[in-house]
Amino acid sequence: MKPPTIHVEADYDAMARLGATIVAGVIRQHSRAVLALPTGSTSVGLYRELVRMHRNDGLSFEGVTAFNLDEYVGIPKDDPEGYHVFMRHNLFDHVDIKPDSWHLPDPLAASPGAEVRRYENLIDDAGGIDLAVLGVGANGHIAFNEPGDTLTGSTHVAQLTDDTWTRNFPALAAQRVANPQVRARYADAYTVGIGTILRARHILLLASGQAKSAVVAGAIRGAVTPQNPASFLQLHANTTFVLDNAAGNWAL
Ligand code: GLP
Repeated sequence: MKPPTIHVEADYDAMARLGATIVAGVIRQHSRAVLALPTGSTSVGLYRELVRMHRNDGLSFEGVTAFNLDEYVGIPKDDPEGYHVFMRHNLFDHVDIKPDSWHLPDPLAASPGAEVRRYENLIDDAGGIDLAVLGVGANGHIAFNEPGDTLTGSTHVAQLTDDTWTRNFPALAAQRVANPQVRARYADAYTVGIGTILRARHILLLASGQAKSAVVAGAIRGAVTPQNPASFLQLHANTTFVLDNAAGNWAL
């Protein structure tokens, strides 16, 4: 299998700029680009840069179809912690993407079983993903494919590990001591599967910070194992890693 392309940039902002340049290249190359998009702090700089390119460099999202990687189950679409709000706030409200061309799993779908099939079919009907942009959890999760004994190929409902939940909701983690029920909020998420990601024609993973260093090194140089879901990217022939120095200096 062709080894991945690895870029190690000086800092977070440089990582975001290079990531955005790669995304913009795909958008400009395909008149109807299909993207899979992440959430999380790593992607905030990427979206800031893409919005800047839209405003200053004529980058148009008019032909883009976007599928987010994941969304929590059972929350309203205007939940401030939800990914509908995150994506509107960071990207979709600031670019010219058509309102019916961006998609996330429906957190309030009546039937989760039907919703995962609908989402997977929607991606197929769009012609598959040209570029899947990923972040990575400190435990190696991509989208919400958490480490474990097995991984799931297609879109499904996943349970967040304690580690991920605590990292994603540090404010709630304090309340949880007094009220264990708090853990049930944002406990489950719709996520595309490992197979959905691996069917993308190009994969771009961004990672920043020392906390990601070991897991990214393992993903690139270690065994392919469900204990590090990002290691499955070794099975793909067209993967690019854009890392900041803290996450990637082991590769220099
Ligand atoms: C979340 C998202 C992932 C994302 C990851 C990294 O749990 N579901 O898709 O890649 O966390 O987040 P961050 O960039 O904030 O470290």
